[in-house]
Amino acid sequence: MATVTRARNAAQLALDLEVPAALPLLPIAPEWKDQPRLWGPALHPMCSYLASFPAALAHAFIGRYSRRGDVVLDPFSGRGTTPLQACAEGRIGVGNDLNPLAYLLTAAKVEPATPAEAATRLATLRLGWASSSADWLALAETVLADPSDPSGPPSVAVPIAGSGAPATRLETVPREVTVAFHSRTLAQLLYVRTVLRHEDRTDRFLAAALTGILHGKSASYLSELMPNTFSMAPRYVRDFAARTAFASPDRDVFGGLEKKLARLHREALPRTPGIALLGDARDTTDRARAALRERGLPERVRLVVTSPPYLRVVKYGYYNWLRTWLLGEDARAIDAALDDAHHREPYLAFLREVLADLRPILADDAVVVLVIGDVETDRGRPIRGAVGLAERVWERAAEPEGYRLAGIALDDVAAGRKMTKLWGAEAGQATKTDRILVLGATEAGRRRALSGAATPIDWDWPPRGLRAI
Ligand SMILES: C[S@@+](CC[C@H](N)C(=O)[O-])C[C@H]1O[C@@H](n2cnc3c(N)ncnc32)[C@H](O)[C@@H]1O
Repeated sequence: MATVTRARNAAQLALDLEVPAALPLLPIAPEWKDQPRLWGPALHPMCSYLASFPAALAHAFIGRYSRRGDVVLDPFSGRGTTPLQACAEGRIGVGNDLNPLAYLLTAAKVEPATPAEAATRLATLRLGWASSSADWLALAETVLADPSDPSGPPSVAVPIAGSGAPATRLETVPREVTVAFHSRTLAQLLYVRTVLRHEDRTDRFLAAALTGILHGKSASYLSELMPNTFSMAPRYVRDFAARTAFASPDRDVFGGLEKKLARLHREALPRTPGIALLGDARDTTDRARAALRERGLPERVRLVVTSPPYLRVVKYGYYNWLRTWLLGEDARAIDAALDDAHHREPYLAFLREVLADLRPILADDAVVVLVIGDVETDRGRPIRGAVGLAERVWERAAEPEGYRLAGIALDDVAAGRKMTKLWGAEAGQATKTDRILVLGATEAGRRRALSGAATPIDWDWPPRGLRAI
């Protein structure tokens, strides 16, 4: 009895210390770390997005584990890195995300507007603005001069996003939005967000491009109040603007958008269109299959490259509230819906559901690449349960659903040196190592993952084999 108790205590201690079980290393060098920051197609940096991975990482696995014409899926597509990279390499890139901002960015990248379509729509917007600017300028001035008590809700009504002009559905503009822009910029944004319709491919592309230039610290952004990477807390923004008498420079939305479109279109668009889906990763398969069938495309996925939400609070709504305002989305509702703030146990159960859902759409020899987290501290504080997470994901989410383990690839140049420490008794001291769990859907997938690890990757962009496309 005492031995059993001691054994149980030891097991509990190991759990508490979070010493991960050793998993085999997959010999894939993290060459993506050596590539320039903006490596890959010009559409990738359309808009900054928290916790996105580099296009070069997606390429390292797309190049090894898929061929032209294969379906490559990301059930947590974020700003669309995997599906865009897949389309750019002649694969059918499918991205799914529950965040409407992520969906918009993914859709804009896998079904982009051509330069001619974008230029025509921009010209129409300019004409529409020219004929109605007096009304919008007057509306913006009224919003800025809102006579209601500044500590209460705003009172001036404007059309809701996407409602078309003349609008019948109205809402008010949050005060933190009004302080961010010059009155003319605000007037132009009110007009543009009213008339752009996100169900239209070209309008979606323009709206996505606008989210990318909304705020940042240079003349190419429409507001200099906040950095480009994320929106600062609304209250902080209001206080800061009041304290410093912040006045945004007059930035022309149409001129800024034109320049942004030129950057996005500076090289040819991918010829293979992809698919963007909006929904919960736990039911990706049915929606992906229906979308593939509708387009007459193969209904089997050969490769998944994804980075699930992580064990830390990345509030995609809260940190993007100015962008979500532009799009007419509710930042709070987004955060309430997403699975980004789990503790470890519910996180593992969640991932297991995702992996269970994916199985039926995977080809027998499909390879599944899961990029599991990148930090073990969140803003300086250790995250409980983060150490050894990839190992736990394997044991608790993937193995029980019948996946086969090919191994773990490390996303850290110094990883080799750290490895002994990391997987030995000093696991708890590790500070930063990404772990990339590579799985096979079946034994055939595992074997393909192992043999493909040695495939050399062409890091020229576009790769030699694709230049003729
Ligand atoms: C780490 S990010 C992915 C970033 C992506 N790899 C990229 O490069 O942009 C995780 C994503 O999971 C999404 N997400 C969170 N909960 C979800 C759920 N239940 N279903 C689908 N997506 C979800 C978030 O919106 C976020 O975009």
